[in-house]
Amino acid sequence: MTPLVYSYPGNESFAAGLALHWPAEAGGLSLHHFPDGESLVRIDTPPGGRVTAIVCSLNDPDAKIWPLLQAARTLKELGAASVGLVAPYLAYLRQDARFHPGEALSAPVFAHLLSAHFDWLVTVDPHLHRVHALSEIFPIPATAVAAAPLLAQWITDHVARPLLLGPDAESRQWVTRIAEQARAPWRILEKLRSGDREVAIKVPDLEVWRDHTPVLVDDMISSGGTLIELVRQLRGIGLRPPVCVAVHAVFAPYGYWGLLEAGAGQVVTTNTIAHGSNGIDVSAAVAEASRSAAQMPSIEGRGRARSIA
Ligand code: R5P
Repeated sequence: MTPLVYSYPGNESFAAGLALHWPAEAGGLSLHHFPDGESLVRIDTPPGGRVTAIVCSLNDPDAKIWPLLQAARTLKELGAASVGLVAPYLAYLRQDARFHPGEALSAPVFAHLLSAHFDWLVTVDPHLHRVHALSEIFPIPATAVAAAPLLAQWITDHVARPLLLGPDAESRQWVTRIAEQARAPWRILEKLRSGDREVAIKVPDLEVWRDHTPVLVDDMISSGGTLIELVRQLRGIGLRPPVCVAVHAVFAPYGYWGLLEAGAGQVVTTNTIAHGSNGIDVSAAVAEASRSAAQMPSIEGRGRARSIA
């Protein structure tokens, strides 16, 4: 039986790409918000014993999580053989440590909540830092698709003489991989964060790269503060307008325009979060991972997590 892919409202474009590549059929899911703030989910296409997946990118997660769990539970009650979650962007992974006394460890709490309602999970480049693999916090099979090969291909196709710059130590994992495939020189810089939007970045002497185009690579652009600061400094020393390439276009208000105002030549992201800057389609890679995740046994396979290059 052909799998059914349901789009959480706002994810229609990604869900259509996923269904095309899987291949799967599109299922209907609608969401109603009552005036009192409560929500109601309706499954418009009965799952009837089929493998199902809900596509929901988890930026702005607090607003989405409750209706999403209602949808997963309802699909099971209506007889779905299994219910997977395709979350091209997965939230809460940065809060993987108690940075101040009494803080919630949101990453494992969130992972366990999702695992209680879904049989498997596929995401793209989760922001893993102190947690090294999804399997450390997800009891269900959880697959991380790597966008690096697609980012490298985009850079190869669109930027002549790129110099890859990672703004902080965490970006090393993406930058080195992309640099190897794109055969481009690279540097990792030092970043010190002092607030949600305030960062200081130490830029080394880049004089010898004056005839290159700086390509700033990060896994996500959130407030934009990190790349805005870097773009400002690079323009300040007279380098070419930098190209910003990121996986997840989280973009708090004004982040995108802030980057262009600071002097970025171009801002390109993948379609893990729908945004005007999307220029790299990861849906085929996510479909391949979903196809294989959906075939995993939902009970025996628990605890397995893997990465797809
Ligand atoms: C940090 O570890 C991440 O890789 C990004 O650099 C960071 O989340 C970007 O956030 P913002 O755009 O708010 O500076």
